[in-house]
Amino acid sequence: MPVINAVTALEVNDGIAVITVNNPPVNALGHAVRAGLLEALAAAMEDVSVQAIVLTCAGRTFFAGADITEFGKPLQHPGLTEVIDAFEASPKPVVAAIFGTALGGGLEVALGCHFRVASADARVGLPEVKLGILPGAGGTQRLPRLVGPEKAVAMIVGGAPIGAKAALADGIIDEIVAEPIPGAIAFAKKALAENLPLVRVQDREEKILAARENPAAFEAAAKTALKKLAGVEAPAACAQSVRNAFTLPFAAGMEAERKLFMKLVIGDQSRAQRHIFFSEREASKVPDMPAGVKAAPITKAVVIGGGTMGGGIAMCFANAGVPVTIVETTEEFLATGLDRIKHTYAVSVERGALTQALMDKRLTLIAGTTDWDVIRDTDIVIEAVFEEMGLKKEIFGKLDKLAKPGTLLASNTSTLDVDAIANATSRPGDVVGMHFFSPANVMKLLEIVRGKDSSHQSIATAIAAGKLMGKIPVVVGNCDGFVGNRMLARRTTECERLLLEGALPQDVDAVVQKFGFPMGPYAMGDLAGLDVGWRIRKHRGVKAPVSDTLCEEGRFGQKTGKGYYIYENGSRVPTPDPEVTKLAAQKADELGVKRRNITEQEIFERMFYPMINEAARILEEGIAVRASDVDVVWAYGYGWPVWQGGPCFYGDLVGAKKIVAALEHYAELTGDAGLKPAKLLTALAARDGKFGDIGVAAKAAA
Ligand code: CAA
Repeated sequence: MPVINAVTALEVNDGIAVITVNNPPVNALGHAVRAGLLEALAAAMEDVSVQAIVLTCAGRTFFAGADITEFGKPLQHPGLTEVIDAFEASPKPVVAAIFGTALGGGLEVALGCHFRVASADARVGLPEVKLGILPGAGGTQRLPRLVGPEKAVAMIVGGAPIGAKAALADGIIDEIVAEPIPGAIAFAKKALAENLPLVRVQDREEKILAARENPAAFEAAAKTALKKLAGVEAPAACAQSVRNAFTLPFAAGMEAERKLFMKLVIGDQSRAQRHIFFSEREASKVPDMPAGVKAAPITKAVVIGGGTMGGGIAMCFANAGVPVTIVETTEEFLATGLDRIKHTYAVSVERGALTQALMDKRLTLIAGTTDWDVIRDTDIVIEAVFEEMGLKKEIFGKLDKLAKPGTLLASNTSTLDVDAIANATSRPGDVVGMHFFSPANVMKLLEIVRGKDSSHQSIATAIAAGKLMGKIPVVVGNCDGFVGNRMLARRTTECERLLLEGALPQDVDAVVQKFGFPMGPYAMGDLAGLDVGWRIRKHRGVKAPVSDTLCEEGRFGQKTGKGYYIYENGSRVPTPDPEVTKLAAQKADELGVKRRNITEQEIFERMFYPMINEAARILEEGIAVRASDVDVVWAYGYGWPVWQGGPCFYGDLVGAKKIVAALEHYAELTGDAGLKPAKLLTALAARDGKFGDIGVAAKAAA
């Protein structure tokens, strides 16, 4: 194939020029691609034998978007808009041959073509909002001209891609074809034979004129799309830019889109979201994994325990198409567990998130038994029983006797020592922790706990199993609470202290929610059940005067109608309870704690800085190998807002110096040595360093 540049080729056959970009892995539209596209187009223009052009890619996908790694760096010409304008202006028809995912700039390029065909399994979308930006190469101006501003605002603010069938129905593509390139060539020939007029999307006015007539329909769609997104910059900018598509002429709309894009792309929110995008992909890379270690195949699974967690994990396997058997102690527990799973699927069907046919198919993949013989023939076992070491050891001893060699033996422990569990077997190399987050079938995070003897193969298999289940696996070291819960424990301690010192649950929750968490810690505690923490505290001999008393009074949270808040008549909305204020004041009195007015700033610092400090300790100890892994854990397991980048990213924004000074103050105020700044944080403060500069370190040098 004649080569235009390192990533672009042009081949002319029978009057049709096929431009193919080959820029693995996802054909991102980096500088070389953009330059190659313009050159290829010019060559196709010059060649008089060329009557029409097909634009496509090699490899696994059509363009998956702009090259995100170029964001924030000076633009190297040509820009993407220039490339798209040139294709749209072509006097020879251009057909995009879409397969895989045409996302962001990729779809924008396709929208600059006169026609678009796609394979049946292709997906198209403008997901830029998830990177804290807006489609910056005409997407907010061209898509509304094709589908109408109402649909465009939902698609651009939501950011979720749609399938080829929906794209065809919406007029985003013109035809679904069996094979993208031959299909596009056939379409181009048909366009020539039938003399089809070239469709330049920027000139399509019908939907724009209709929206001008009825802006209220757009405003209603924008309001729906923006619901619950207050405080996040990109969604509002996306909506504004789509609004511009019908309130401004095309050129002015493009200009405004550019300005909004430039403003967002240099902002902290977009930097944070891009950081999470790359960190998520980095997190499952294990620095010391020898080349050539391959994950064992997962074709059958067993989950021990059919409770909420076990059931959720079994659903993850079934959702991934893997047959799974739940082992329970009695038929009664088994029936309850299987019913719970059925009910959860049924709710999804009711909500329209799942078809009945898919639910039925998944249920056929989930079996239950009380017979441990099933362990003999499985690739992976995940134990999800009560959090008690004795029980776990007993179970792993049993697994050791039954499982065939090489079966991955995983514990879903959230705090316990994985080495102690592994030592209950004769094969500690096959044992890992696989810590799912509740609800396990929904939450994306999977902490993979590496014991001191866990083999590379076991880690690789656990990662692969996690990915198969659609999780984001993060490999962490073995310690009390691993990464996520260990940091959370710091926040929980501060919550109890703040109650005694004078802050109320609603004050603290408001600060945490304002930062962007979907829920504050007290509302979260009430949802999860306060008895869980109480049991752990009793086990460890730890006291939390206010929370313990609430539990002693039977206030376990939402399930009992009362916890830190009141939930009247089955409501899930927390209502502040004066009784809790009274109880906190009484306990403070008993303990001689002087209550005072606590500012929002202090609440904020005490909620977040101790966690950042613990993250530093976790890095010092090598429990997490990268600061960005900590960020992924919090973004996907605990609701840390992605536009705030995770604890370490956010810590860098605040600056280590400021955090160290605040921690010293709070350590003194509370007398808690655990609040003293970690060595690593102090070192960062001294050299004006950042978590983001540490890179991969087995143990981050302090
Ligand atoms: N730019 C640069 N690198 C990218 C990239 C992009 N747009 N998209 C993916 N990559 C990289 C990933 O970082 C990853 O790199 P490593 O192998 O080094 O970790 C590699 O490509 C493969 O990516 P995935 O592991 O995610 O592969 P996948 O097959 O699971 O998913 C995908 C493929 C669906 C395309 C997914 O990568 C994705 O969603 N990418 C981002 C798409 C996107 O947001 N596009 C819009 C970009 S912004 C834009 O286009 C602005 C504009 O308007 C001009």
